[in-house]
Amino acid sequence: MTQENRELRLRPARFDELAALTELCLRSKAVWGYDEAFMRACRAELALAPRDLQTSRIQIAERNGNVIGVAQVSVAGSAASLDKLFVEPDILRSGAGRRLFEWAAAAAREQGARTLVIEADPGAAPFYRRMGAHDDGFAPSGSIPGRMLPRLKLDL
Ligand SMILES: CC(C)(COP(=O)(O)OP(=O)(O)OC[C@H]1O[C@@H](n2cnc3c(N)ncnc32)[C@H](O)[C@@H]1OP(=O)(O)O)[C@@H](O)C(=O)NCCC(=O)NCCS
Repeated sequence: MTQENRELRLRPARFDELAALTELCLRSKAVWGYDEAFMRACRAELALAPRDLQTSRIQIAERNGNVIGVAQVSVAGSAASLDKLFVEPDILRSGAGRRLFEWAAAAAREQGARTLVIEADPGAAPFYRRMGAHDDGFAPSGSIPGRMLPRLKLDL
């Protein structure tokens, strides 16, 4: 593990952080160069609401006391869903995504899931393949009618 990653700490998100985490998700999603109309359409899907703390697990990554990433995973029977994985744009490719993804896979496994399903942004699909997930067709976007997203699965 690099020095940088030793300084990375993961912990559960708190209720009073959800609004700031939603903004982090939006900043992170925008790295792929989407226009304002697209980002507006994604806003509801990228928001974290208080009920999410009951229906899913939300973990944040901190480095030097700053929140730099968030992951959300929910489990239904033997299948888990990676609902969110977002890293701050200025620290991409420094290992936070991997740590959060590994947390999500472990959390899903602990809750009895055998598969972690990811409906990925096309820009992030190569990252999930790097993490060991395999392609499993496409899924309709929850935000943009007619848009199809790569679906990937990780065997747990
Ligand atoms: C996808 C995302 C979470 C990856 O996080 P990250 O912190 O940059 O990833 P890491 O630094 O932990 O990378 C882990 C490995 O994946 C590789 N990787 C990361 N992003 C990649 C990409 N877009 N394409 C190909 N490889 C990628 C890294 O090079 C690294 O490889 P290594 O094992 O050889 O070291 C991040 O790019 C992100 O937040 N993107 C914007 C929001 C988004 O699309 N989220 C996903 C929604 S489905």
